[in-house]
Amino acid sequence: MKILAIESSCDETAVAVVEDGRKILSDCIASQVEIHKTYGGVVPEIASRKHIEAISALADEALEAAGITRKDIDAVAVTYAPGLIGAVLVGVNFAKAAAFTLGVPLIPVHHIRGHIAANYLAYPDLEPPFLCLVVSGGHTMIVHVKDYTDMEILGGTRDDAAGECFDKVARMLDMPYPGGAALDRAAQTGDDKKYALPRPKADGNPYDLSFSGLKTAAINLIHHAEQVGEELDIPSLCASYAATVSEMLVPRTMAALEETGCKTLAIAGGVAANSRIRGDFERECAKKKIRLCMPPLSLCGDNGAMIGAQGYYEYLAGNVADQTLNAYATKSILGEAL
Ligand code: KG4
Ligand code: ZN
Repeated sequence: MKILAIESSCDETAVAVVEDGRKILSDCIASQVEIHKTYGGVVPEIASRKHIEAISALADEALEAAGITRKDIDAVAVTYAPGLIGAVLVGVNFAKAAAFTLGVPLIPVHHIRGHIAANYLAYPDLEPPFLCLVVSGGHTMIVHVKDYTDMEILGGTRDDAAGECFDKVARMLDMPYPGGAALDRAAQTGDDKKYALPRPKADGNPYDLSFSGLKTAAINLIHHAEQVGEELDIPSLCASYAATVSEMLVPRTMAALEETGCKTLAIAGGVAANSRIRGDFERECAKKKIRLCMPPLSLCGDNGAMIGAQGYYEYLAGNVADQTLNAYATKSILGEAL
């Protein structure tokens, strides 16, 4: 089954063709990063307008790169939530028109379920159940993936997402948007023990996290250095910050693996590209004999292929939409009825 998959929830317009949920036939992206860089973050209206401009040509490009034509498409999958509402609406509207004119099923896909499904593309033999740590610009959660469309959230952030914090601190250090990758690069030559940063705990659920205190502590440290004219060791600050985020994520995830008895861990989302987090999981999972799935960097960030992968399993589960499908800025990954 060949699925045309559309993703437009933030600042990347992405269209892919995916076969049977596992094989990428094409994966095209029109990134808006250069435009939003000027503003230090995503400007929602500009994002929507750029999606509108890019999406049709990108769909043609995806078909051509896959070596197929419109009549070979069996279904259209689309991110329908969550994201910048104007941006998501562009993709949803395009997908509805495509499904309508092609006369094929329309499959709504939750963006975060898509991130998890990037692992099905990278690891063709991976099947639920497994545990997944989702770390993106807007989400941080530990998910028990019981089946392709049956999930339980074991815990997550109570405030900011991990990616948001990386971006905010990077911005304070005058790194270009989106700062996570730049901060990661700067950290490579730093001393991860030079700056002591707090690891705030959230009361109650042991798998819950709170990042806002860490973010504020890093920002205060930068402000203070500016005020007293102290020169910061930027690589070491970046290394200490990445180490702290990792030390908040890794032990909680390992504890959740133990409690659920899952023998496989997948990581997903833009922050799953972070070298410190990847390295720490590699070490811990090797120690505990846990299979670790980490998509290549190209499948960690937003892409269309992940939507096509999850779309296939949503289709098999009967989760298709009609032409009344709407877009949602927020929606739980648990997927209440449409
Ligand atoms: O999943 P994603 O592409 O978009 C959302 O769904 O939010 O994640 C984007 C986030 C941004 O905050 C970006 O700075 C962060 O992922 N990111 C990184 C790295 N690469 C991307 N954060 C830390 N280290 C990286 N190497
Ligand atoms: Zn994303």
